[in-house]
Amino acid sequence: MVPEITVPHPGSYNAVISGTGSYAPPRTLSNEDFAKMLDTSDEWITTRTGIKTRHIAADNETTAQLATEAAVKALADAGLEARDIELIIVATITPEMVFPSTACFVQDMLGAVNAWAFDLLAACSGFVYGVATAREFITSGRYKNALVIGAETLSKITDYEDRASCVLFGDGAGAVVVEQSQDGPLGIVYSSSSSDGSGWTSLNCQAHGSRHPANRPLDDPKKIFMTINGREVYQLAVRRIVEIVGDCLEQCNLTIGDIDMFIPHQMNARIIESVAKRLKLPTERVFINIDRYGNTSSASIPIALDECCREGRVKSGDIVLMVAFGAGLTWGANLVQF
Ligand SMILES: CC(C)(COP(=O)(O)OP(=O)(O)OC[C@H]1O[C@@H](n2cnc3c(N)ncnc32)[C@H](O)[C@@H]1OP(=O)(O)O)[C@@H](O)C(=O)NCCC(=O)NCCS
Repeated sequence: MVPEITVPHPGSYNAVISGTGSYAPPRTLSNEDFAKMLDTSDEWITTRTGIKTRHIAADNETTAQLATEAAVKALADAGLEARDIELIIVATITPEMVFPSTACFVQDMLGAVNAWAFDLLAACSGFVYGVATAREFITSGRYKNALVIGAETLSKITDYEDRASCVLFGDGAGAVVVEQSQDGPLGIVYSSSSSDGSGWTSLNCQAHGSRHPANRPLDDPKKIFMTINGREVYQLAVRRIVEIVGDCLEQCNLTIGDIDMFIPHQMNARIIESVAKRLKLPTERVFINIDRYGNTSSASIPIALDECCREGRVKSGDIVLMVAFGAGLTWGANLVQF
């Protein structure tokens, strides 16, 4: 039976996800490859993270190129041309350069001449923040459509001498087209978004900003790479994800049994399993593809959503809950009726 969904802050229009697309570079790096480079093993990585392999961009492959490949597929899926797009939001922590924005590069590569474009930085929560932002522009009636893209080349800021972090990350991009509609599914019903800047030390990449200006040598050359406090993040991620799912369900007057597909940020299969257990979500309603991608930060949810749709695991009318947690600290969720 279709549940009675409450839309907490309805606009004049629905904002529906009308197309999805994803792209990952062809080159891969398996656990066995790591075992040849570092003191690690397939057994350690698989048991602690669920990751088997990840995609790695070629030296000349950039974030905007990956984003554009995903966007082209999402546009085709939605039946739109690049020139139809009014707004492009690119979520990334591995931009094309300090400025201009990666979104402007994507606009140019796509030929989306009628769009305005900007980047959004919320690390692994970037895509869900982007969907929340697009929803506001579209439900208000200001724009008819938007492309929301999560794209990363994390391999370019990964320290391949740090076995505790390098095995976790991969490269890729995912995109959705969000369109205005007045009937049919409710689309993006509700977005819950949170931040806690006091937790910035848990996950960061410190070089290239104003704290470490370009005209001064870095006090620690490793600051060009990501650093993580894995154990701290693990525990917080489980707690915050469970809390934010509770908020979405309460606001929309739903129960966990109403969620047809749960698409969490793919940061660690053990974290996802722990969340699913606490929420009493059966495995067939939890989407996991981390074994083939690793953690691709802002790209992880849109890649998973695209695979989920293409595998026919999301049908018209289904209620999908996408939830992320990441650096900032940031966390967020989108409840969507397809
Ligand atoms: C990173 C993570 C997999 C580590 O798992 P863990 O069970 O917490 O492991 P620990 O960090 O406690 O390390 C346990 C031991 O394994 C070792 N180890 C770390 N990485 C290893 C690797 N790749 N291979 C083999 N051993 C490794 C550690 O050195 C440590 O050894 P010690 O006990 O002799 O000191 C896990 O904490 C995690 O996924 N955290 C969240 C990741 C994250 O922040 N992602 C980005 C945010 S979205």
